[in-house]
Amino acid sequence: MNMWLTQVDKSSSIPLYEQLYLEMKVLIIRGDLVVGTKLPSKRKLSEFLGISQTTIELAYAQLVAEGYITAVARSGYYVEEVAELSYIEEEHVSPEQTEEVKPSYSIDFHSGRIDTSAFPFNQWRKYAKDLLDETYHDLLLLGHPQGDVELRREIASYLYTSRGVRCTAQQVIIGSGTEQLMPLLIRLLGKQAVYAIENPGYPITHHIFANHERETLAVSVDEDGMKVDELEKLDATVAYVTPSHQFPTGAILSASRRVQLLNWASNGDDRYIIEDDYDSEFRYVGKPIPSLQGMDQRDRVIYISTFSKSLMPSLRIAFFVLPMHLLQAYRSTFPYYSSTVPRFDQHVLAHFMRDGHFSKHLNRMRKLYRKKLERLTNVLATYAPQVKVSGEQAGMHIVLTIDSTLTDTELVQQAELADIRVNALSEYHQTIESISSKPQVLIGFGGFLEEAIEPAVESLMKVWNIKKP
Ligand SMILES: Cc1ncc(COP(=O)(O)O)c(C=O)c1O
Repeated sequence: MNMWLTQVDKSSSIPLYEQLYLEMKVLIIRGDLVVGTKLPSKRKLSEFLGISQTTIELAYAQLVAEGYITAVARSGYYVEEVAELSYIEEEHVSPEQTEEVKPSYSIDFHSGRIDTSAFPFNQWRKYAKDLLDETYHDLLLLGHPQGDVELRREIASYLYTSRGVRCTAQQVIIGSGTEQLMPLLIRLLGKQAVYAIENPGYPITHHIFANHERETLAVSVDEDGMKVDELEKLDATVAYVTPSHQFPTGAILSASRRVQLLNWASNGDDRYIIEDDYDSEFRYVGKPIPSLQGMDQRDRVIYISTFSKSLMPSLRIAFFVLPMHLLQAYRSTFPYYSSTVPRFDQHVLAHFMRDGHFSKHLNRMRKLYRKKLERLTNVLATYAPQVKVSGEQAGMHIVLTIDSTLTDTELVQQAELADIRVNALSEYHQTIESISSKPQVLIGFGGFLEEAIEPAVESLMKVWNIKKP
């Protein structure tokens, strides 16, 4: 064997023996090292590569164990016959090369960011510690496929008191994120369902419809939410809406549109509304608006929400509430699916909710986000009328409409060059015609410390050359 064929990279984080083993394996699979070839002795190869004999020995031992080479006593190592593999492994790439580095920005207005400074780590840790104990050995086993009843009960009672959602624990299905639950709903509602989606709207859900080859029809959104008049003219059977705080415009579905939407849904046995209530906990003006599910008399609303905004996106816990008549169909469609949320996490959250910490946390966060929003709108007001704010009644993002000759994509690019992240509203539109004539950008404020908001906005305005009048 030609020793030049092998190389190792001493600066790599992959152990040297593993690099050598992988290299040789590929050479053997590819046929570059033919059957019967004698491998260099450990001593020679170690001298050639400048690495220890033990490292070579480890690599050879692994190749022997996997049947790529054989050790012949007092002679050496020989390449074995390897049954032809149906694939050739890709050239080995180090983890450093494969891992995409997520860009980080010096100023990040992304709408998915939350405040991580006020998380009640102490309480969370206490419950996690208490539960990781022999007393709870049962949690090592699989739980209920819909999620454990302890958490489902807490969710049902929280939903009733805070969102007016009427349900029992048996209607609640827990899963690891809205994005993991939507596919279940889509399959439950069948291939014939045609989805009306908000335009602009939440791209992740829209992608999920597309990935499942479901037909979608875009319905415009104005300052009162989805235009139900438009929906009524379409052949859609399911309307996917974000009524509490439309994503991304921030519009709140008006009372009359709510009634109109519920009436639309009650006009057909196959009609449903999927109410995505993703950040409804954070409403800053007036009284909380009850959910559509709570107003629904005909069991047409499937309610879906998440802990991604109210607690943390990394928890990956979301849930939906099915109307009673869909429950049997759900259970028979997915009889073998275990819950996608680890039971320990479910129980930490259930205990946290049971002891009132979730409500306390929400109250604290609501105050905190309200203050941030106030700061944000106050500083933005100084740039009026060139900059106009909308969607500021709820949630953790607002929309800016800017008087500029540039497009929103151009504004985003300018910001990006200055290491500032904002999103263009045009990204969320399904049709070019629906894009506003004035550029609009999405500004998330959840991730900022209150005192960092003003300088962040000022930097952004400077980049866009927008001056206070
Ligand atoms: C409209 C909408 N739905 C749902 C979610 C949450 O999704 P998940 O539960 O997968 O984190 C978000 C998060 O930003 C959202 O904007």
